[in-house]
Parts: sequence; C-alpha cells; structure tokens
Amino acid sequence: MAELTRRSFNTQTVASLLTFSLLDTLLVRRAFSTEIEPLIARWLKQVNDLGLDLKGKALPAVQWQQQVEELFGKCELSELLRFIDFDKLTANISFRDQGEVSLRATIPSVEGLPTNLVFGHQVFALKKDRSVVPHGHENMATAFLVLRGRFHGRHFDRLEDAPEHMIIRPTIDRAFGAGEHSSISDEKDNVHWFKATSESAFIFNIHVNGLVANRRTGRVYIDPQGGEKLSDGRIKARKIGSDEVYRKYG
Ligand SMILES: [Fe+2]
Repeated sequence: MAELTRRSFNTQTVASLLTFSLLDTLLVRRAFSTEIEPLIARWLKQVNDLGLDLKGKALPAVQWQQQVEELFGKCELSELLRFIDFDKLTANISFRDQGEVSLRATIPSVEGLPTNLVFGHQVFALKKDRSVVPHGHENMATAFLVLRGRFHGRHFDRLEDAPEHMIIRPTIDRAFGAGEHSSISDEKDNVHWFKATSESAFIFNIHVNGLVANRRTGRVYIDPQGGEKLSDGRIKARKIGSDEVYRKYG
C-alpha cells in the first residue's frame, strides 16, 4: 500500500513538474512574442488586406502602389527583422557572383494574421555591385523594402511593347537606404533595376501574382543601357534573355 502511494505520489509529482515546466516555457514564449507580435502582425495583416483588395479589383493598381508604399514607410524595420528571424535567415549566405540570392523567410503564424497570405514574399540578398537585373513585370504587382545596406534603384514606366523591344521612360533614379521602398504595377513604374552599393544589401519583396486570370505572370528582361535614346527621355530597350541580362547587369 505504502509502495503504491509512493509510486502514485511520484507520478503526480512528475506530472506536476512537467506541467509547471511546460507552462513556464509557454509563458516565457508568450511574454517574448507579445512584445513584437501585435504591431508587426497588424502591419502584415494590412499588407495582406491591401493585396486582397487589389486582387479582388476593389483597389486599382496605382492606388495599391500608393497605399502599400505608405504602409512600407510605417514599417518598424527592427521588428520585421526580428519577426522573420533575419539574422538566422541570412547567416552563412553564399552570395552570387551574378544577381541576387532569394531567401524564403518564414512568417510566424500568429493570432490575427492569416496563414494563407495573398502575397508571396522573399528576401533578396546581394553583395556589392551585384543587381536585381532590369526587368518588367507582367500581370503582377510587387513592392520592395530595403532591409539593410544600400542600393542604387531605378524604375521606368513601360510605355509600349513590341515583340523584340519595349519603349520605357525613367521615373526613379536614386539611392535607396534601409527603410526605403518602391513598387510596381502594370500601370506604373513597371520596370526596375536595383544595384547594391554597400558590401552586402537586402530587400524584402512582396508580390501579388495573377491579377488577371489566364494571363501570363512573370518577368521580362530588358537592356536599358544599351537601348536607343528617343525623344522625351524615352528609351527603346531590347528584350533579352536571362543569360544575357545576368551577364551584363547581374
Ligand atoms: Fe521585379
């Protein structure tokens, strides 16, 4: 009887200790997460809501660009970096000799933030003098937020398309530092090109694809520097393949 009691007591004690230990862990985790989750989760929820409005045609693309950039301007960068565990994500990167490395950040599932986000996302990592090469987008809206480092960023309006070339006009041509942002749609600033100017540089990219059903979504590479200069600042830029664009600009 005494043996049974002791065994029973021990079992209960172990169970209690286990419960307290688990509770303790959960409480610690909760205390840590509540510091940063509400703000950044709310911010990502707003980015997602804008994407839903864009995809659902409630928001024209140019207005989406204005609003998403306004939101990007309010991002608490240090919190976003902690939320996506930027340091772990970018530890031991093998930078590319041409172009960017695309890293898939994990967005933690937290209360109030849908797990099936309408936008795709990635972190681009580049070493100095490497570029997100010049390209236009078809049937997708995207936005860039510089997370760390510096870039020289260029955007162009895509005015006309022919099978072999496109007519573009420069719209943005300036330095971008951490916290600065830009965006793209089929209507405005459709072509971009970002060259890293610091030893390493990182961009948070979001994209809402397939805005029009059954139409191709993707990149179209061009050669703006080798293009023919036309009147009013326009450039006739040749469409080129990925090998050539990465060799020339990557
Ligand atoms: Fe792009």
